[in-house]
Amino acid sequence: MSKIRAAITGVQGYVPEYVLTNQELEKMIDTNDEWITTRTGIKERRILKGEGLGTSYMAEKAILGLLEKTDTKAEEIDLIIVATITPDFPYPATATVVADMVGAKKAFAYDINAACSGFLYALTTGSQFIETGKYKKVVVVGADKMSSIVNYEDRTTCILFGDGASAVMLEPNAEGYGVIDSVLESDGSGQPYLFQKAGGSRYPSTIDTVTNKEHSLHQEGSTVFKFAVTNMANVAANIMERNDLKGEDVAWLVPHQANKRIIDATARRMEVSEDKVMLNIQKYGNTTAATIPLCLWDYEKQLKKGDNLVLAAFGAGFTWGATYVKWAYDPK
Ligand code: UT7
Repeated sequence: MSKIRAAITGVQGYVPEYVLTNQELEKMIDTNDEWITTRTGIKERRILKGEGLGTSYMAEKAILGLLEKTDTKAEEIDLIIVATITPDFPYPATATVVADMVGAKKAFAYDINAACSGFLYALTTGSQFIETGKYKKVVVVGADKMSSIVNYEDRTTCILFGDGASAVMLEPNAEGYGVIDSVLESDGSGQPYLFQKAGGSRYPSTIDTVTNKEHSLHQEGSTVFKFAVTNMANVAANIMERNDLKGEDVAWLVPHQANKRIIDATARRMEVSEDKVMLNIQKYGNTTAATIPLCLWDYEKQLKKGDNLVLAAFGAGFTWGATYVKWAYDPK
């Protein structure tokens, strides 16, 4: 019998209704649509409004939609992994909260924190539980409410991020479809360039940490940009090489949506043409762990069984990685 792989058998996203446009940001901070569009490719992003609504709210919507689409009962789910850097609470894990919300009574659940690479880390981890043969239905979610940690007075970061969630179902496949290979890497010396200073064990919350806005995302953009461009392109090229894939063999590049210029550089390195690159940064901005599964959701109807997908990401940590997926179904 051929190897059991973890096939993606469905995908469902959720984005909040509120649209924060570049024009609205122009009224809040010293910026302009032209700068944001040419430097990043972003036109608008979604923001989750409503008291008491956190990342779990969006993850719940995505999972409930996924269950309906894949005709799955919540009690059938074995495991839920939520990739996020904006959990509802420091603990318990958002995954356990969401498992309860959707009625996944049998599932065990945990979060993964690998920032913008979180979905790839979670997808790779979740796949192992399927490949061993032990579990049959694993739900992997990328979800972030970035608006909860963005300082809307900092023009260098607040224009970049948005809120969203998207979930995939993983099931066993013995016909060669599913997650074929992953390369995941990290380098913790990147910590000072992209992080949230306060609220953890090193700098617990005080009045001063709040006043000094140390609970917000801090990014040294141009430094992160240099690392992102190099590492995302390298890791994508690496996974292609070790799986004998040429540019023309790749049906879709599914890149993390942080900056259109980083995406273009990765595509050029892979020799993948622009029409094969999934792009939705213009409407959602950077939703951190949710960008890649939101792309899969947006492009689902264009995906065909047997398509070779290369997923690639770079994020805080630094973390980065690439995953090679053979798509398992035709449009329904
Ligand atoms: O997803 C996780 C990983 N994150 C990333 O991959 C993000 C990587 N970094 C980037 O995408 C880019 O560095 C940014 C989009 C964040 C910034 O673009 P940049 O081309 O690196 O710009 P910069 O930071 O070098 O700033 C250039 C200029 C500066 O002015 P001066 O010093 O040249 O006068 C900034 O003050 O642009 C100015 N600037 C702005 N101007 C208008 C910075 N933010 C803005 C703004 N509107 N929002």
